[in-house]
Amino acid sequence: MIVLGIESSCDETGIALYDSEKGLLSHVLHSQIELHAEYGGVVPELASRDHIRHLVPLMEQTLQQAGLTQKDIQGVAYTAGPGLIGALMSGACVGRSLAWALGVPAQEVHHMEGHLLAPMLEENPPEFPFVALLVSGGHTLLAHVTGVGQYEILGQSLDDAAGEAFDKTAKMLGLGYPGGPILAKLAVKGVAGVYRFPRPMTDRPGLDFSFSGLKTFALNTWQKLQVECEGQTEKLEQGQADVARAFEEAVVDTLSLKCRRALKQVHCKRLVIAGGVGANQHLRQQLKAMVKKEGGELYYPRIEFCTDNGAMIAYVGCLRLMAGESKALSIDARARWPIDELPSIRD
Ligand code: KG4
Ligand code: ZN
Repeated sequence: MIVLGIESSCDETGIALYDSEKGLLSHVLHSQIELHAEYGGVVPELASRDHIRHLVPLMEQTLQQAGLTQKDIQGVAYTAGPGLIGALMSGACVGRSLAWALGVPAQEVHHMEGHLLAPMLEENPPEFPFVALLVSGGHTLLAHVTGVGQYEILGQSLDDAAGEAFDKTAKMLGLGYPGGPILAKLAVKGVAGVYRFPRPMTDRPGLDFSFSGLKTFALNTWQKLQVECEGQTEKLEQGQADVARAFEEAVVDTLSLKCRRALKQVHCKRLVIAGGVGANQHLRQQLKAMVKKEGGELYYPRIEFCTDNGAMIAYVGCLRLMAGESKALSIDARARWPIDELPSIRD
C-alpha cells in the first residue's frame, strides 16, 4: 500500500510517500524558520498561512521525486494533533479532501506516535518492547512501548518540555530562534564545570521531569554574569557559552538518569530516543554510553527524522490503514491528544 503523509502541526510542512512493501519512497520538507525568526518564536497564524501556501506544491514535488502520480496514492495520512490548531487544520483539510477526491481512505495520525515510531524507518529498527524517550518542543515523556498503540506512560514533564526549556533559555541568553540547536552549538564552546546547574527531580524516586526551574537558574546566572562582565565583551561571550554548556549538561544528565531508571523499572534493555531534542549530539552520546554500560542498545532516527517530517506520518498512517482503521469523512484536529488514548494494533 502506498500512503501519502502530511505533517503540518507546527512550523514545518513535511510530505512523504511510504510504500508498505518498498519502504520510504520520497520525502520533502519546507521549514518556516525564516518566517518566524524575526518574531523570536512561532506565530501560529503565519504558520497556518504558510502551510496552506506550500502543501500542494510540496505534494507535487514528493510525487515527482518518487516517479509517481496521484493515481498511485492508495491512502492519505495526516497529523491530526497535538499541535497548533490552525496549522493542523491546514494539513487535515487538504489531506482528507485529497483522499475523498481520489476515492482512497484517509488516516488521522498522532504527531507524537509519529516521532515515537520514526526509528522504525531506519535500517536496524528496534524490536518491541522498548522504552521510548520522547523529547520534543511540546512534550517530554518516557513510555514503555509493547507494540504499535501500546504506550504505557512511565513519566512526563510536569511543566516545560525539554525542547521548550532549550528554546526559552536560548531566548533569555539573547540567542535566536529556533533556540535548541543554536544553544547546543554554543554549548560546544563552553567550558565544562564552570557552572553546575541542578538536576531537577533526580533526588527522589519517580520518572517525571520538571525543567522550568532550570530555566530560571540559567536566567539568574546569566544576569549576574552580565553585571560582572560589564564592558568585557570577550569574557561575557565565553560566559554565555559556559552557561549554555551548564544548561545542556543539566538537561542531558537528567534525561539520562531517568532513562536508566525507566529501563530498570520495566526490565528492558532497548531504549529509543525520538523528537527534536533527540537531534542533540551530547544527549545521543551520553545515552549511548549509559545504555552500553547497562548492556543494552540505543535506537534513534536519522537527524532529519528527529525533528518534524512527513515520513514518520506516512509510516504510521500506513500501519494504521493496513490494520483497517477507518473514520467518518468529517475533519477533526486536536490541539491536545494524550498518546495513551490511541488504539493498539495487534498483528
Ligand atoms: O519534534 P520537534 O521538531 O517539534 C515538536 O514536535 O515540538 O522538536 C522541536 C524542538 C524544539 O524545541 C527545538 O529547539 C528542539 O526540538 N531541538 C533541539 C535540537 N534540535 C532541535 N534541542 C536541543 N538540541 C538540538 N540539537
Ligand atoms: Zn514534533
